[in-house]
Amino acid sequence: MRIIKCENYAAMSIIAGKIIADIVAKNRKAVLGLATGSSPVGVYEYLINKYKKGVLDFKEIKAVNLDEYKGISKTNPHSYYYYMHDKLFKHINISNDACFIPDGTNPDEEAECSAYERKVASLGYADIQLLGIGRNGHIGFNEPSDEFPEETHAVCLAESTIEANKRFFDKAEDVPTKAYTMGIGTIMKAKEILIIASGLDKAEAVRNAFFGEVTPLVPASILQKHPNVILVCDREAFSLCENKCSDR
Ligand code: F6R
Repeated sequence: MRIIKCENYAAMSIIAGKIIADIVAKNRKAVLGLATGSSPVGVYEYLINKYKKGVLDFKEIKAVNLDEYKGISKTNPHSYYYYMHDKLFKHINISNDACFIPDGTNPDEEAECSAYERKVASLGYADIQLLGIGRNGHIGFNEPSDEFPEETHAVCLAESTIEANKRFFDKAEDVPTKAYTMGIGTIMKAKEILIIASGLDKAEAVRNAFFGEVTPLVPASILQKHPNVILVCDREAFSLCENKCSDR
C-alpha cells in the first residue's frame, strides 16, 4: 500500500485527481469505479478542469458507481444518480450509456443486485476504484458486520451512516434506510484502488482501516489485502497514524 499525505482537502483532491487523470490519459477505454459523498467533489472538479482544457477525453471511458440509495428516483437531488450527473458526468464528454449506477428505483433487490454485479463483471471490473471512507470504516455502503459481503447487495444503513449523511437532507428521517452497494468482493476485483480521506472525523477510521487488524467490523481494513492500493489523505485524517510507519 502506498500512502500519500497531503496538507489539506484541496491538495488531496489534486493528487487523487492526477492519479485518475493518468489512467484516463493512458487508457482511453478505462473503466472508472466512482464514489459519491463530500470526499470526491474536488477530484471531480480536477477532472472537469482537465477536460475543459482539452487534456482529457472521456469519449470511450466507462464509469461504474459504488452504490445508490434504494427507493428514491433518479431526478431526486439526493440520489447518487443525480449527484454523479451534477458533479461530473454532465460536465465531461462521457457517454450517458457508459455510466452505470445501481437502479435505486428497482424494488426487486435480488434482481437489481445480480444485474449490477453482472454488468460490472462484464466490463472486467474497474481499472481504478475511487473510494471515500465512512466514519465507521465503511466503503461503498458495506457497513461493519460479521463478514465481508462478496457481491452487490441490498443493505440497511447503519445508524451512524444515517447520522453522517443527514447533512445532505433536511432531517435524519428523510435519509433512506436502505441502499444497493457493490460488495467488498466487487470492490476488491478492481485492478487499483484509490481511497481518499480528509478531516479529523476520518482519523479514527483511517487508523483502524490501515493500521489495525483486518476485520469486517472495519470494512475498509480489507484493503490491506489488495495488491494495489493508494491512500491519499490530508494531515487531519492521518493525525492518529503519525507515529506509525508511513509506507506499509
Ligand atoms: C459514496 C460511498 C460512501 C462514502 C463515505 C464517505 O458513494 O460509497 O462509502 O464514500 O460515506 O462519505 P463522505 O465522502 O461524504 O465523507
